[in-house]
Amino acid sequence: MCGIVGYVGHQDAAPLLLEGLSRLEYRGYDSAGLVIRRDGELRATKRQGKLERLRSALAERPLAGAGCGLGHTRWATHGAPSKRNAHPVLDSFKRLALIHNGIIENFLELKQGLSAEGWRFDTDTDTEVVANLISSRLEAGGSLLAAVRSAVQAIEGMYAIAVISTGSEHDEIVAARHGPPLLLGYGDGETYLASDAAALLEHTRDFTFLENGDIARLTSRGAVIWDRRGEAAERPRQRLLWDPVQIEKGGYKHFMLKEIHEQAQALQDTFSGRVDFERQEVDLSSLGPLAEPGVLAGIERIHLLACGTSWHAALVGKFFIEQLVRIPVEVDYGSEYRYRDPIVDHRVLALGISQSGETADTLSAMTAARDRGGRLATISNVVGSEATRIAEGVVYTHAGPEIGVASTKAFTSQLAALYLFALYLRQARGLVVDAEHLDPLAHLPQAVAEALAREAQITEIARNHFRAENFLYLGRGLDYPIALEGALKLKEISYIHAEGYPAGEMKHGPIALIDANLPVVALVTGAREVADKVTSNIHEVKARDGIVIALTDRDPGQLMGLADEIITVPHVSHYLQPIVDVVPLQLLAYQIGVKRGCDVDQPRNLAKSVTVE
Ligand code: G6P
Repeated sequence: MCGIVGYVGHQDAAPLLLEGLSRLEYRGYDSAGLVIRRDGELRATKRQGKLERLRSALAERPLAGAGCGLGHTRWATHGAPSKRNAHPVLDSFKRLALIHNGIIENFLELKQGLSAEGWRFDTDTDTEVVANLISSRLEAGGSLLAAVRSAVQAIEGMYAIAVISTGSEHDEIVAARHGPPLLLGYGDGETYLASDAAALLEHTRDFTFLENGDIARLTSRGAVIWDRRGEAAERPRQRLLWDPVQIEKGGYKHFMLKEIHEQAQALQDTFSGRVDFERQEVDLSSLGPLAEPGVLAGIERIHLLACGTSWHAALVGKFFIEQLVRIPVEVDYGSEYRYRDPIVDHRVLALGISQSGETADTLSAMTAARDRGGRLATISNVVGSEATRIAEGVVYTHAGPEIGVASTKAFTSQLAALYLFALYLRQARGLVVDAEHLDPLAHLPQAVAEALAREAQITEIARNHFRAENFLYLGRGLDYPIALEGALKLKEISYIHAEGYPAGEMKHGPIALIDANLPVVALVTGAREVADKVTSNIHEVKARDGIVIALTDRDPGQLMGLADEIITVPHVSHYLQPIVDVVPLQLLAYQIGVKRGCDVDQPRNLAKSVTVE
């Protein structure tokens, strides 16, 4: 949802910024642009479309010789994706350049006021309003810092912005944050800023996360930060241990494929150190105050809050918690929760599930639960992200950086984290946690590796069906959310219309869609009574000439002659089976996307972190 990066220091800024943007492109790829400050002047280059086009433009006409600059990769909100609307955005007098991630809600009102004062607008963006607003404050005299401070007071909405100006005496960047993430990175005689640490890992591991309301001034000597009241603020420096090599493709054609293949390891990393197989205990002391004796025992209801793929993880989490702990669980989309005026008090634990920890809708829902008196925890993959900062306690998924826009390894790691969470809750409430619960975890990475080994067969299935225009995914019980996730992956990656449905509901509508052109992916796993019912549903599909791709952990013989394609996966425990089942569906979506010539790592119109509501 727009990536921003900034640099001030002794190196040539443009190549550094371009490299940083290449790590942020998953946040948006409608346009990209760079601006540098050289000899007190601003020079910008922007291009519509992917970063590659900006890179080619800069190869032809480099922006060299400057130690200060800003870069931006855009996911369009206000104004079409075009070169004209690309960032950095300059003010009417070209005395400052600004990059922005977020939405300025009162931009129309501000624009009308500024237009009446004679300010010119060359773009359709809300960002240009901020550029002119800051410029108007600069006109009144004073520093860039003072102008930004004054301007942000007039702004309503969500923003992470960074500004450079011709008028500054020395190279400096002024940045402000309210909502979308912004972090500062420190090198030797150089200071960075970015939306995400991934942009800077090649250069530094030392970061400061800005808080909402913070304004920072960056120079080559470091950064000074002020809080929303204008008082000097000490923000802790944090050392991030992510390995820069993890954000390379490592020989794979796409990040998505690499990340699918990293799942056995990501799962292992997510439960390692948290499960004591000998003592039969789960340790989630990272839940902080929530892990204190008696707290979880006093929880009577749980609200799981998430968006997209993380919402599918929440649906599986509901099964885990209700079946293992017998506490009622509600699952909500982040974007819906606060508008239904949820019933929350101190006996409710709200758990926000978010890979990025910065999805605006999930954050709003989490805040709504907290403001109504609920206790607040999160499952997140990103250390220091906003979700982890507003929650009382965190269960990190240790999936490592996920770059592919469609979530894969983060999803299965969320399922593992939710399982641990349910067991921990069970333990905290005095119920038995034993080998039956824990031992299957030890076998899970191997089972996932075996599911991954079906890739050649799945590639063949993709070849047979990639021209289909619709797909239906069916599952029951724990596999219903997996059917939803399989359909979502296919939609995101291949632009094929796909629906996930509870298998038993097929007869109430989707059965009307079935004909000889509709592949139906049926998940025939889990308890016998459930699997047998899905098999009956397969008969119903075949009776209407549908194409069936069955996935099963049982003897495939029972499906021979019935299903057109059969993918077998290893059988694991009831609770962990969905983690194995989703892997072939990810591979199927990936292979179909590739066959259709789609950009699987950066599907059209999507962004990895959606920091606007
Ligand atoms: C976007 C991404 C999805 C992701 C969703 C929630 O839509 O494209 O892959 O599942 O956001 O993201 P989160 O970071 O909150 O898990």
